[in-house]
Amino acid sequence: MKPRLLFATGNAGKLRELRVLVGDAVEVVSLKDLPPVPEPEEDGDTFQANAVKKARAYSEATGLPALADDSGLCVDALDGRPGVLSARYAPGDDRARYEKLLAELAGVPDAKRTASFRCALALVTGRGDPEPRVEVGRCEGTILHAPKGTNGFGYDPVFQVEGEGGRSMAELAPEEKARVSHRARAFQLMRRHLLAL
Ligand code: IMP
Repeated sequence: MKPRLLFATGNAGKLRELRVLVGDAVEVVSLKDLPPVPEPEEDGDTFQANAVKKARAYSEATGLPALADDSGLCVDALDGRPGVLSARYAPGDDRARYEKLLAELAGVPDAKRTASFRCALALVTGRGDPEPRVEVGRCEGTILHAPKGTNGFGYDPVFQVEGEGGRSMAELAPEEKARVSHRARAFQLMRRHLLAL
């Protein structure tokens, strides 16, 4: 029988990406397919710690192997902020958050605007798994002076992707983002652990 895996996300895009990655080998269910489970607080200092905490909590609650992710944007000139607080960096919407970022970086020259999107994925194979598998993916770039592009979400309009002809993440087609993103890279690294379930 195929192994069943809970991917602890309510995000349809992330679920689709994972299903493409594991193909027929694993039956992937999401939080929407299960009775409600209390959501653990993302209060870790690192993406890895948050991903492991989530995967553990959901595996504990359901008895299924669980995969969880945590991601965000780390800006070098801000000593890695907003980092694990990316989703909560400013109240309001995505635009309010990237505008706050542009304001904090006002006057910072291009050479010092380097940044990376990072994603940690954690796999807990069942209740009491002593050694979760953790993989981290990064996507390097720089923070623009003004937003451009309409694809994606979050900080995509202000993040210029390294090696993509000066385009922002929000100017990449979804298929292109799915090849170069921090999440795509972490998924690729996690693939072998998932196929061994
Ligand atoms: P989460 O890990 O899905 O909760 O994402 C945390 C936050 O990091 C999001 O709310 C976004 O602000 C930011 N973030 C994560 N991944 C991306 C991305 O691919 N593009 C833009 N922003 C992202």
